[in-house]
Amino acid sequence: MDLEALKRQTAARALEMVAPGTRLGLGTGSTARHFVELLGARVRAGLSVTAVPTSETTRLQAVQEQIPLATLDELTALDLTVDGADEIAPDLTLIKGGGGALLREKIVAAASTRMVVIADESKWVPVLGRFPLPVEVISFGLSATRRAVEAAARDCGAAGPARLRMAKDGHPFVTDGGHWLLDAALERIADPESLAIRLNAIPGVVEHGLFVGLASTVILAGSGGVRVVERG
Ligand code: A5P
Repeated sequence: MDLEALKRQTAARALEMVAPGTRLGLGTGSTARHFVELLGARVRAGLSVTAVPTSETTRLQAVQEQIPLATLDELTALDLTVDGADEIAPDLTLIKGGGGALLREKIVAAASTRMVVIADESKWVPVLGRFPLPVEVISFGLSATRRAVEAAARDCGAAGPARLRMAKDGHPFVTDGGHWLLDAALERIADPESLAIRLNAIPGVVEHGLFVGLASTVILAGSGGVRVVERG
């Protein structure tokens, strides 16, 4: 089965968790895109939900799908967020931000009672870090922030270079929040919680892609079918 079909299976399974009246966070990325598409069909068939998108890309797709949208200021709390991930560890700690939307994704996930992650099996890893960790930073003082990010990772036993993400036009990639991204090639993050705390303490860091204690459920699809993993 091809990858897109696997992603769509996980999206379909997550859709079963959406009850009428759900206040929903909509993730970003190619897997979340399937979910938004399937949700749109259900909404047009009569399902009532209110959704908060985690990126401008998802917001545009949701508008096209005629999904009623709100802001977090209007809803204050969400029942459920469905989003993808770049890596998932067995304790359901995640790396996110490959698509650059990690800041809004984390704000929305943190405001949700439940975060359900949808992914194909390739995202399931014994230890996080092979996927470069996205770190959203302000442009002012970039070199100092980069050195501090690399030092924090080194102190947590995960040394590696943090590279500025570039866009196709040759300029730095700019997030929806107007910030830049460093991608830290750490290979093995043995202690994500400690690294998360260290990164949060760096002044130029806006947010990072380590999601610790946020995902409650993961829906994975592989050649053996779909499996659901709950956080212990
Ligand atoms: C977006 O910033 C990311 O956090 C995505 O959720 C993540 O990169 C997964 O994307 P795919 O579903 O496209 O793999």
